[in-house]
Amino acid sequence: MDMTQATKDHYDNFYSKGGWSYSNWREKRFLKSKIVKPLKLQKGSRLLELGCGMGYQSNLFYELGFDVVGVDLSESGIAYAKSHFSGPRYFNIDATELSAHFDYESFDIIYIRGMSWYHYELNGVNKLGVDVPERTEELFRFLRPKGVFVLQIVTDFSGSQPEGKVHNNRFDEYVRLFERFGEVFYISDWKGRVLRNQAEAEKVGKHIIIATRKK
Ligand SMILES: C[S@@+](CC[C@H](N)C(=O)[O-])C[C@H]1O[C@@H](n2cnc3c(N)ncnc32)[C@H](O)[C@@H]1O
Repeated sequence: MDMTQATKDHYDNFYSKGGWSYSNWREKRFLKSKIVKPLKLQKGSRLLELGCGMGYQSNLFYELGFDVVGVDLSESGIAYAKSHFSGPRYFNIDATELSAHFDYESFDIIYIRGMSWYHYELNGVNKLGVDVPERTEELFRFLRPKGVFVLQIVTDFSGSQPEGKVHNNRFDEYVRLFERFGEVFYISDWKGRVLRNQAEAEKVGKHIIIATRKK
């Protein structure tokens, strides 16, 4: 079975059993204080969430005033999002299929939280068979000039690649991936502590929020 199908099956199963349960107010406070405010994201901006799962964060961005499109591979994730959160528009597609649905330079913000492409090797074709730099370059084409790409993902920054688990990519590996597409202007951990280098990241590390402004 190909890895994309395996990912889809995994999340279809997970979401049909209930998926994650989020505290709405806590998540909203998180998005406001750790993403929207420090990155100065403007209300009314057109935001594409890739790997939106059951739509929780897409809906919260919508409630915060953004014009939101949510995309996910999982049929059950998107079915849940559509039936519970009517504000955003949703597409049950693979992130490699965006060009069939959207124009280049049609989003102000791309937000990705925990999507598997960014959990493994970042400098070429990863263990899922995804060429991460090439795919990321394609994603940046959907941003308008000066648009912002935000990735939020788990890592302890150690560089470890534990068997059967997601990798812990290092600070510099994330910076190297994104700096070719624009200005990496903000990096923090999940508590909003700004991280300037590997040493700071390793000290607190659990989670990276990295934002890049398209050239
Ligand atoms: C760890 S979950 C995160 C879900 C959501 N962002 C959240 O934080 O609750 C990763 C999500 O990415 C989606 N995903 C993985 N690969 C994808 C792809 N190639 N295209 C679209 N969605 C994908 C999965 O279906 C899954 O819903």
